[in-house]
Amino acid sequence: MGAGMVSYRPGRNGFATGGDMGREQTEVLFSEETIRVRVGELARQISSDYSRYGEILLVGILRGCYIFLADLSRRLTIPGRIDFVALSSYESGTAAERPVRLVMDLRTDIAGKHVLIVEDIVDTGATLDFLLPVLRRRKPASLKTCAFLRKPSRLLKELTVDYVGFDIPDVWVVGYGLDYMGRYRALSDIGIIATPPAAR
Ligand code: XMP
Ligand code: MG
Repeated sequence: MGAGMVSYRPGRNGFATGGDMGREQTEVLFSEETIRVRVGELARQISSDYSRYGEILLVGILRGCYIFLADLSRRLTIPGRIDFVALSSYESGTAAERPVRLVMDLRTDIAGKHVLIVEDIVDTGATLDFLLPVLRRRKPASLKTCAFLRKPSRLLKELTVDYVGFDIPDVWVVGYGLDYMGRYRALSDIGIIATPPAAR
């Protein structure tokens, strides 16, 4: 493993149990420090934009959002609550033939609330394109979107993402909540995986 490559470090990234873990090499795209700085910038911007609203409701899209949402929420300086949805996607088939479904709904009534959807990554845009109208029908006071990563070249729908951490090329990324076949989520850096998933 050469410079610029990452691997699981026992006791630091969790799940470092050996076996076939970590066989696919990843190249660092964003270091832990770069991520930390950018999350801080996003948190400052969001805190400033929402300061007049009183309270924000962060809606995380499971599972990929869990680390970004944890970091972002702890750096907001405004009052807020958190809830989650889970959507099916990337389970089988290609992007075009895969309908998005809500597999776990919110517990919160969002009517009248200032809702910010928090996504790990916007790829084709199908997930947000599905979720936005579902939530809009419930009459939130406002509804915005925040994604840590976005792949502009893959976008199939016209979609505005209000807060974006980084735009990236069409590569498969892992770490910081993002996975490759369920693995690498707990990696502290974001890396580009050498073996991208077949089903796209
Ligand atoms: P859409 O196409 O609906 O996709 O915008 C959003 C979801 O696709 C997953 N996704 C990725 N997951 N590395 C990942 O681990 C990637 O490079 C990647 N690209 C897309 C992710 O679940 C996201 O929420
Ligand atoms: Mg996701």
